[in-house]
Amino acid sequence: MILVVGATGSLGGTIARGLAAQGRNVRILVRPGSNYQPLVKLGCQAVMGDLKEPASLRAACAGIDTIVTTAISVTRMPPDTIETVELAGYASLIDAARTAGVRHVIYTSALMGDTRSPIPFAAAKALTAERLQASGLTWTVLAPDAFMDVWLAMVVAAPALQGREVVYVGGGSRVHQFVHSKDVAAFAIACVDNPAALNRFIPIGGPAAISFRDAVATFERILGRPVPQRGVAPGGPVPGLPPTVLEMLAGFDAFDSRLDTAPLAAEFGVDLTSVEAWAEGLVPAAAS
Ligand SMILES: NC(=O)c1ccc[n+]([C@@H]2O[C@H](COP(=O)([O-])OP(=O)(O)OC[C@H]3O[C@@H](n4cnc5c(N)ncnc54)[C@H](OP(=O)(O)O)[C@@H]3O)[C@@H](O)[C@H]2O)c1
Repeated sequence: MILVVGATGSLGGTIARGLAAQGRNVRILVRPGSNYQPLVKLGCQAVMGDLKEPASLRAACAGIDTIVTTAISVTRMPPDTIETVELAGYASLIDAARTAGVRHVIYTSALMGDTRSPIPFAAAKALTAERLQASGLTWTVLAPDAFMDVWLAMVVAAPALQGREVVYVGGGSRVHQFVHSKDVAAFAIACVDNPAALNRFIPIGGPAAISFRDAVATFERILGRPVPQRGVAPGGPVPGLPPTVLEMLAGFDAFDSRLDTAPLAAEFGVDLTSVEAWAEGLVPAAAS
């Protein structure tokens, strides 16, 4: 039995659906207000629980062989916070997994995870990855780069498609291997019952290093018209984007990420989506 923690989220839901489609026995940790019924219809077993409630985690882990966890507080409201979920909540989950004799824990961290990062989310991701690695449990840490269907969708695709100006933080020239979340889900699924994934840190990126400016150029080519763009200094406002998002965008503008992603994609059988292919899929006329 596989426990998915975060199954009512976007990435977590893709993973749970993918595992259920393979005919695997999937349990999902869910909260009363979350939209989990569609997953139950697909055959997932729902167990009520919360990362902030250690007793619920002990119950959820009973009889579990593998945990895949994607849960994150950043898109939720207090009392779900980095301290209560990413740090204390995951510490409780790791304890519960160890007590229950779970064989393998697959944790979704982030490529920008770094215990010394000034970005609280990035520091917490790395601290929890370290906690898992030191726990005595068999682990896999997935470390994806930024998701194209989150960050490029929000910063570039939405305004470009709506005829608005694209606004990014900084110069827009830093490159990252933006990856599609469905490809991250494919990696997570490929790690289940896979000896090659055990005690392994797996950096995940898309097929090419792309900047926000590059992404704007891609949309200009596909749309056949110029897309206005400008950068704002870190700390400056971007219309429609909340402070936590701006903090992350400033973080992206502080470094480049370059990965040789092809070998791991081949090893885990994942066909990586390019920014170009994703963008063309958003503009149906471009495909004809
Ligand atoms: N976006 C990126 O560019 C990026 C890059 C690298 C890594 N990642 C990682 O990829 C994952 C993204 O997952 P996602 O897209 O599925 O996130 P999401 O759509 O924001 O969903 C969050 C999930 O976490 C659950 N959750 C939050 N607080 C909880 C709590 N206290 N107890 C139990 N569950 C709780 C939510 O449950 P409810 O529905 O009940 O609230 C929901 O299932 C995260 O781990 C993120 O750090 C993302």
